[in-house]
Formats: sequence, C-alpha cells, structure tokens
Amino acid sequence: MTVQPIRVFGDPVLRTPADEVVDFDKELRTLVADLAETMLDAPGQGLAAPQIGVGLRVFTYHVHESMSGHLINPVLHFPDDEEQDGPEGCLSIPGLTFDCRRRANVVAHGQNMFGDPVTVEGTAMLARCIQHEVDHLDGVLFVDRLDDETRKAAMRAIRDAPWADRANPTIKVSPHGSPK
Ligand code: NI
Repeated sequence: MTVQPIRVFGDPVLRTPADEVVDFDKELRTLVADLAETMLDAPGQGLAAPQIGVGLRVFTYHVHESMSGHLINPVLHFPDDEEQDGPEGCLSIPGLTFDCRRRANVVAHGQNMFGDPVTVEGTAMLARCIQHEVDHLDGVLFVDRLDDETRKAAMRAIRDAPWADRANPTIKVSPHGSPK
C-alpha cells in the first residue's frame, strides 16, 4: 500500500469520465488499498480513483468507523426526493468548503474488490459522500453543483488558492532535462 499524490483542480484526469472495472485482479486490490491509505493519510472522508490519476470507477469512503469501505462500478438510486444542504469539500480542491445541495438519501449498488455485488445505503454525510465520489467517476466536481453565486465565489477562491499552480501538470519540467 502506498500513499499516492492527489491530483488538484485543473488536472484533466478529474474531468475525464472513468471506465467500468472489468478485471477484479490483484492490481485492483492494490488500487483500493492505495485509495484507502491516501484518503486516511490526507485525511479525507472519500477518495475516487481519478483523484490519484487512475481512470477507473472505484472509490473509498470513511465517514465514520462504522461507515467505511470501497465501492466499484457504483450505480445510484434515490429512494425519495428529500434534499440536504451543508458544507462540502474535496481533497482535489484543498482547504475550501462551500454549501452544496445534495439528495438526503441514496442507495448505491456496485461491487466489492472481489466482484461480489454490494449495496450501500446512505443518509446525511454518507449520502453526501457517495454522491460526491460518484460525481468524480463522471468527471464532475462539487463546485459544478453549487448555485451560481456560490460557484462564482468558489472559482475566485480556486484561482487565488496557494495550490493553483500545481493544477496544470503539462507545465512540469522533466527532472532528466531535455535530450540534446
Ligand atoms: Ni472530491
């Protein structure tokens, strides 16, 4: 298990829809372990594979000791129309939280790392976390879900954030220098 660098806002991988997992192999189990370790190290309540640069439909969550785990190829169902308002943040948008409206209750169907079917039912924070992480798998970030005014404030704060210059990986200089 290895703590992986977390990609930040501006990295194209965060805007790329992730692929379904088809191989439930050792590599997948390593990915789940890396996600869990990176999430707990951060620390955060959830982490999706694209956030560590892997375009697969996998996320881990840790909302509470009794509400933690991972989910692969999740499909969301909403049992009712109830909504919740509350602060939300993201390890890929570090240090910033904004009020974000979400559904209050969610049922997520998916698989575990061995390919067995799994259902996770969430309310309150767990419901928010699951919706946030599934969004990541679709290339959606929570700032996309904010009302217009809050989103404008969020975009200004992101532009001014101390990590904003980490956001464009294409300007990285090779440590080996350019070949002559
Ligand atoms: Ni996030």
